Amino acid sequence: MLFSRELIDEKLRRSIENSKDYIGLGELASYIPELMKVDKDNLSLSLISTTGEVFTYGDKDITFSLQSISKLLTLIIALTDTNPTDLYQKVGSEPTRYEFNSLIPIGDKPANPFINAGAITTASMVLGLNNDHKFERILDFYRGISDFAEAYMDHDIYMSELKTADRNKAIAYYLKSKGIIDQDPGEVLDLYIRACSICTNIEGLAMMGAVLANKGIGIRTREMLIPENIVQIVVSQMASCGMYENSGSYLMNVGIPSKSGVSGGIVGVVPGICGLAVYSPRLDRTGNSVRGKELFKIISQDLGLNIFV
Ligand code: DON
Repeated sequence: MLFSRELIDEKLRRSIENSKDYIGLGELASYIPELMKVDKDNLSLSLISTTGEVFTYGDKDITFSLQSISKLLTLIIALTDTNPTDLYQKVGSEPTRYEFNSLIPIGDKPANPFINAGAITTASMVLGLNNDHKFERILDFYRGISDFAEAYMDHDIYMSELKTADRNKAIAYYLKSKGIIDQDPGEVLDLYIRACSICTNIEGLAMMGAVLANKGIGIRTREMLIPENIVQIVVSQMASCGMYENSGSYLMNVGIPSKSGVSGGIVGVVPGICGLAVYSPRLDRTGNSVRGKELFKIISQDLGLNIFV
């Protein structure tokens, strides 16, 4: 980082202060009832540099579910279990203007791995003896790349989504009907929902961003956790598709490859520099955290993190 620790701390504190106008804007995701049981105006933020410096603000002990951020995990594991050529025969790599749970951008294959149809497809490519084993692999992988941050599956969130998953069920059965997935759609969806229900804290999420920013090398251990060719694919897909139909303008305004989830988390990757994560549960109409997006924009400007300038 180009600034001293003190200056980074000062800039991050100021950014949080400057985003206060956004408190109260946006709504919680109500289609998964359990996600309504949070303090709407909670905020936590963490930046972890590739050199291992940690800056964390707000409630750092609060845990929240990854939701669509888990699509990064299933994509990485599916790419490792198969290979990019085979995976991209089943999933596209292009952004879509349709919302994340739309059936329209499926065509011959789902538009990209981050819309629900794409992530249900990548979940079908995770290898394992059964769903328990596949889920354990996903959770263990997250534990490793978050440097063993708190991580567990929240059963109430899982059940809440399972009960209200009509749209995702339709997507999974449609994918099966088109031969894009060949397993039982209910089983694949179950794995997808379990992954969405993984809960963690803000430093765990920022650490995952930092590992991606560090070409897949563990920040503390210096161990190779994700192969570099997979990091390249995942981070570029975050840039083009990570914020759904808002990805283009978000990239233009913020300039940080990012991935959001409907619980209000956003994780960003600044290659070679840092991972950044914000949790703020109120969402805009595209399912992205309102204050989270604003904070990413301010911090990107203030700390010069935009990858394009
Ligand atoms: O499948 C769903 O609808 C949720 N479990 C995840 C969606 C999500 O997080 C979209 N992101 N902003």
